[in-house]
Amino acid sequence: MTRGKFIVFEGIDGSGKTTQMELLARVLEARGMPVLRTREPGGTRVGDRLRGLLLDPDYRDLTPRTEAFLYAADRAQHVTEKILPALHRGETVLCDRFLYSTLAYQGWGRGVDIVFLTRLNQLATGGLAPDRVILLDLEVEDGLRRALKNRPPDRLEGEKAAFFRRVRQGYLEQASRWPEIFRVVRADAPEQEVHRRVLTALGME
Ligand code: TYD
Repeated sequence: MTRGKFIVFEGIDGSGKTTQMELLARVLEARGMPVLRTREPGGTRVGDRLRGLLLDPDYRDLTPRTEAFLYAADRAQHVTEKILPALHRGETVLCDRFLYSTLAYQGWGRGVDIVFLTRLNQLATGGLAPDRVILLDLEVEDGLRRALKNRPPDRLEGEKAAFFRRVRQGYLEQASRWPEIFRVVRADAPEQEVHRRVLTALGME
């Protein structure tokens, strides 16, 4: 059995990752491919507890490094418990966020040292890297408007727009640093159009 493909969706809050991941999952399944849909933080029992802590607006006292460790702990559990077993079963794994979120949010966003974060994530993932990262890129104001349409902001979404501009910049810098795995998809269009762009980026039209 050949190892399945590992595809990660990244982008700022409100970039439409969750919708686009689902649209891609349906295309893959229609082509007869088994798919595992998962996300970070969360995706495992332990991860769901960590997710609750990380997204709770009551925990504004988390330091940036603590936050990075908790995301890394979630990731370590997720890789071992869910991602690797699915890849070994030959499934295509679609993951909503992965270590690039830590680099963008805790690194570029909060100023935690990038070398430290890279080492931390190397330990957390055991070196597992995706085959493709789809970066859904759009203006920060458009993303925040979408993300906050129907509900109050969670702890991270409550951050100011300047924070998200640094996060977006961090993503774009990662994309130019690792062109062999990143594909940047403009997400400023209706969802079916963005979906077509995602398929094109994956060479799947
Ligand atoms: P979530 O509700 O999943 O947001 P989205 O729907 O946009 O994916 O919340 C995840 C939040 O956690 C999001 O604001 C980004 C943040 N995050 C980090 O700061 N670092 C990380 O390593 C990860 C995985 C997420």
